[in-house]
Amino acid sequence: MATNITWHPGLTHTERSELTKQKGLTIWFTGLSASGKSTIATALEQVLLQHQVISYRLDGDNIRFGLNKNLGFSATDREENIRRIGEVSKLFADSTLVAITSFISPYKSDRDEARKLHNEAGLPFVEVFVDVPVEVAEQRDPKGLYKKARAGEIKEFTGISAPYEKPVNPEITLTHTQSVEESVNAVIEYLKSKSLVN
Ligand code: PPS
Repeated sequence: MATNITWHPGLTHTERSELTKQKGLTIWFTGLSASGKSTIATALEQVLLQHQVISYRLDGDNIRFGLNKNLGFSATDREENIRRIGEVSKLFADSTLVAITSFISPYKSDRDEARKLHNEAGLPFVEVFVDVPVEVAEQRDPKGLYKKARAGEIKEFTGISAPYEKPVNPEITLTHTQSVEESVNAVIEYLKSKSLVN
């Protein structure tokens, strides 16, 4: 960390919220590749926006085209990937937006760090586990990545040759038997039950 830097205080989250009439939070999707994270997260973003809840999705693949283009898939790079997204989503939430993140985020400690950042800032963090077994994800294989991983063409592929640590106590668990619409509804119902959205 740099030295000779000073935190500059500004508006509080409450002051911002009063002006934007919206509460910020982060909805953190985690699950294997091809579990449906991005599809559900996109549908959720659309439904929230349709209800005038200003939301924005940060997607694992997409973020690696820009902000995180210097990161690969080693454990260290994934940790840095998730650290940055934890910070960015916290900023979004602090701005009173709903940040929706869809990253494999395979390590529990990295997800817990992101949660801690939000907790310390008094911002809600909703972890959504898209619990799709590797056999189902592999059968779907929309990008042909599991096939490549099995053939040894992709190293350190989550679920095949790299670990995925399941969440222990996520706020929401979705399964592959639920449709995209049912999954989105489950998230919305949770948000409403906690008064996180109107
Ligand atoms: S992580 O683990 O959270 O840092 O991964 P993430 O940033 O979400 O990126 C996952 C997407 O990258 C593609 N991809 C891989 N995934 C897992 N392991 C390896 N080795 C790998 N190489 C490339 C893949 O398209 C993932 O997208 P999703 O949407 O999860 O299928």
